[in-house]
Amino acid sequence: MDVGTTKINNRRYLGNKYKLLSFIKKIIMENCGDFNSFADIFAGTGAVASAYVDKRLITNDILFSNFVANIAWFSPEDYDKNKLISIISEYNAFDIIEENYMTQNFSDTYFSHDVCSKIGFIREDIEDKKNLKMVNDREYAILLTSLLYAMDRIANTCGHYDAWRRNVDLSSQILEMRMLEAEKNLNSKNRCFNMDSNELASLIKTDVVYLDPPYNSRQYCDSYHLVENVARWQKPEVFGVAKKMNRTFLKSKYCTQSAPKVFDDLILKLDVKYILVSYNNMKDKGNERSNARISDEEIITSLKKRGTVQVFSEDYKTFTTGKSDRSDNQERLFLCKCQ
Ligand SMILES: C[S@@+](CC[C@H](N)C(=O)[O-])C[C@H]1O[C@@H](n2cnc3c(N)ncnc32)[C@H](O)[C@@H]1O
Repeated sequence: MDVGTTKINNRRYLGNKYKLLSFIKKIIMENCGDFNSFADIFAGTGAVASAYVDKRLITNDILFSNFVANIAWFSPEDYDKNKLISIISEYNAFDIIEENYMTQNFSDTYFSHDVCSKIGFIREDIEDKKNLKMVNDREYAILLTSLLYAMDRIANTCGHYDAWRRNVDLSSQILEMRMLEAEKNLNSKNRCFNMDSNELASLIKTDVVYLDPPYNSRQYCDSYHLVENVARWQKPEVFGVAKKMNRTFLKSKYCTQSAPKVFDDLILKLDVKYILVSYNNMKDKGNERSNARISDEEIITSLKKRGTVQVFSEDYKTFTTGKSDRSDNQERLFLCKCQ
């Protein structure tokens, strides 16, 4: 049973803050003193929450695929590592080709026909194992997250699923699942949510909240529709060249013109001691799609309604899609000490 391992950052995700962790930790350490609880309510991959596994954690994301990944990494539930390694090893060795939802809809697009077959089979089997109670909730989340990470490593994309690359030979694609290096013995009060952050805000109380909303009009449910589709596994009809499912219910207001208003509403609802906000300064610099939805002034005005505000910045290289050559960015952190 030779199964590799994977860490939380072994995934391509637009706007993920893994490379900014030392900056974020430094600002929190120097300004927030000792604290017990940390909430990451636009958690994405969970990279920022992963720096605070010694605290009571709250994570949240509107996408189910991120919710599942957050459970895998942060749920206090125990898991049987040997059992999971043995299941993953069997999945990796599986080589029977069947027709299924994945082959019927995604063959030779982001994945080859045979890899689609394998993804479809494994995804169905993970669901069966859950229904038959062969795995607990965290084990289910670890298996599913391992599958999503394995897909991400080989997907025929530029990192997101708005399109697949044409004229690429997919015959050498191999799906290899790995065991997550997920912590055990986490705080028993850790909680992961899958809802709109503005709805969650009035339900939680925490010492430090970290806010990393989308910056621009690029909806995460569009960029990661296939990851979300496989995670949800409701096998919806898919449309167009990119084979996207209906995503109306997953759209974020933070990607629209109402972002400043929604942000203000969120800030007013939070029951916390410190609010730390990540937002970069692409406004009026990149192309139309990458223009920031909320200005620095709007962020500061909202935060000032709650307490004293400081702004920190650091140069940072961002992920680009290749359409724009703008990769040097200044990443901002806005810290509000609430009154
Ligand atoms: C910039 S990314 C966060 C990246 C994350 N900090 C990381 O390191 O991976 C923004 C995240 O917010 C989520 N999101 C967007 N609108 C949301 C909303 N209204 N409520 C909750 N999550 C939302 C997106 O799905 C996306 O994962």
